[in-house]
Amino acid sequence: MSVIRACLELAEGFILSYAEGRIVPMEPTYAFFKNEFVPLSEAKLGAMTNFIHYGTGVFEGIRGNWNDKKKKLYLFCLKEHYERLHRGCQILKIDLPYSVEKLCDITVELVKKCAFEEDIYVRPVAYKSSESLGVRLHDLECDFMAFAFPWGPYLDIDRAKCCVSSWRFPKEVPRAKLTGLYVTNALAKTEAIEKGYHEAIMLTADGYVAEGSGENIFLVIDGQLVTPASYDGILMGITRQKVIQLAEEELGIKTVERHVDRIELYSAKEIFLTGTAAHITPVAEIDGRKIADGEIGKITAKLQTLYSEAIRGNSPKHMGWCTAV
Ligand SMILES: Cc1ncc(COP(=O)(O)O)c(C=O)c1O
Repeated sequence: MSVIRACLELAEGFILSYAEGRIVPMEPTYAFFKNEFVPLSEAKLGAMTNFIHYGTGVFEGIRGNWNDKKKKLYLFCLKEHYERLHRGCQILKIDLPYSVEKLCDITVELVKKCAFEEDIYVRPVAYKSSESLGVRLHDLECDFMAFAFPWGPYLDIDRAKCCVSSWRFPKEVPRAKLTGLYVTNALAKTEAIEKGYHEAIMLTADGYVAEGSGENIFLVIDGQLVTPASYDGILMGITRQKVIQLAEEELGIKTVERHVDRIELYSAKEIFLTGTAAHITPVAEIDGRKIADGEIGKITAKLQTLYSEAIRGNSPKHMGWCTAV
């Protein structure tokens, strides 16, 4: 049985994890909080912190992928994640006191301190830190925090069953990871889980396919990859970009970025989801209709192998995507 590890609770600076149905204590973990490294259990926000109430934060999800042979953890696309965080900060008028380079350094130091020898997830957040209520972006202080914890694949399945969500994307979605935006995604995800699916596919306000609640989506049609375009308001995923590059450079497969109709989901030859947390997750079924024979498609499988080698520091050509810790 595959291991499901979901961080459940924190106590005394230890993360409690759910593994094989058991809750097990693990190594202590740390946070970068208010400009210093502290045990994660000590990183606490005041109840009146503006960001908690109005979603005035920008976050990232960064993977550290453990390579057991090399006994090293590889942080994937660190710089790209912090460049996206900086763009989100521009939108929310968060005046971040750290450059992209400094944020990368902080993250490497954090991950070194945590010393995990397994796949991890790093969650950085830039946020409005004033303990002051009132809906606004101006006249508020800003801060940054980050923490790391062990985390296996987000969708711990290799044949995801998805449904098209009844929750639509807000019309004008800034393409950034703004915490407040994620309430729609949370509604969609829970609706999907409660109906017995693994993930929700969200549509734009115009009814085009947008993305999963935490992933981008790709379809294989006529031997090409097809994925929703930036004008559909999707998050411009870093995994999405790397998959487009791997498909083109390693497999000679082009990607078409365009509107995708809902109906195309039912007749595509292969469908998969991409994201930092979910990696490349094959979709087996949407709305009770099998995708082809419901098995992992050939192109999907090839991309999974290429991607998995790249993120674990096993692909010499793609070492520039990784930061070894
Ligand atoms: C809504 C949404 N779309 C797409 C993605 C995939 O983005 P990335 O590949 O940069 O993790 C994510 C995950 O961060 C997400 O939350």
